[in-house]
Amino acid sequence: MTIPVYPDTKVALKGKKGLIVGIANDQSIAWGCAKAFRALGAELAVTYLNERAKQYVEPLAKVLEAPIFMPLDVNVAGQLEGVFERIQIEWGQLDFLLHSIAFSPKEALHGRVIDVGRDGFLKTMDVSCWSFLRMAHLAEPLMKNGGTMFTMTYYGSQMVVENYNIMGVAKAALEAAVRYVAAEVGPKGIRVHAISPGPLATRAASGIPEFDELLDKAQSKAPTRSLVSIDDVGAATAFLALDGAKLITGDVMYIDGGYHIID
Ligand SMILES: NC(=O)c1ccc[n+]([C@@H]2O[C@H](COP(=O)([O-])OP(=O)(O)OC[C@H]3O[C@@H](n4cnc5c(N)ncnc54)[C@H](O)[C@@H]3O)[C@@H](O)[C@H]2O)c1
Repeated sequence: MTIPVYPDTKVALKGKKGLIVGIANDQSIAWGCAKAFRALGAELAVTYLNERAKQYVEPLAKVLEAPIFMPLDVNVAGQLEGVFERIQIEWGQLDFLLHSIAFSPKEALHGRVIDVGRDGFLKTMDVSCWSFLRMAHLAEPLMKNGGTMFTMTYYGSQMVVENYNIMGVAKAALEAAVRYVAAEVGPKGIRVHAISPGPLATRAASGIPEFDELLDKAQSKAPTRSLVSIDDVGAATAFLALDGAKLITGDVMYIDGGYHIID
């Protein structure tokens, strides 16, 4: 009997290439994930929303030594395709994809779900859910040696969380999309995960009313009695990109100190 020697790919991401979508600043969940991927040796392509956002994201992309740094607003026709074309030219393949974006217009997000208008509903679903399907569609042919796709979700998809409103509906659709896509691309060795962090004080979270109360509740109710950090989310997400996690797919992975198991 001998203890096996793990290859680097089982315990690290050396030589792996990933696309990171969703860094707005150094509080973004995508930044926590990007740091963890990079710490394990992966090479990263990073996008920023627009010129105004670029100043905050560029220094972070430099820290990550990202060889690809491009604008990406999923509402701008052709930009998403442009990112994947560049990856095809520069890398010829992709090993993982992180989709960490969501958006809902204030008038849709701040009202009751029953009152949401068509435009607000479609915009919410477009940016928060369909953009993941679009990315998965474009990533699939580049994941020639298998790969991992990630998207960020939240517990408000499963339970009615006060003030989460229409975003809860979008996240429920997103989690279902993860299951379907996981089934579709699984035979090619591509895994798909929804990551469900506990509440984190990010820019996106600042759009949710009474968010501080959500944080207080999470801390007092979670079995670990702790709030989640972007580095906690990053470490667990990066683990799922390793070969060692190659038979885990289609799930919602809670990184919430166990909050979701408590009544
Ligand atoms: N913060 C939390 O408590 C929490 C908890 C669970 C899940 N999430 C999810 O995590 C993900 C990341 O959010 P975050 O909390 O890190 O906030 P964040 O504000 O740092 O990130 C949101 C990102 O979405 C991007 N985005 C918005 N509209 C876009 C568009 N049209 N095209 C391209 N990008 C666009 C923004 O540029 C930004 O980078 C979201 O899906 C969010 O719903 C957040």
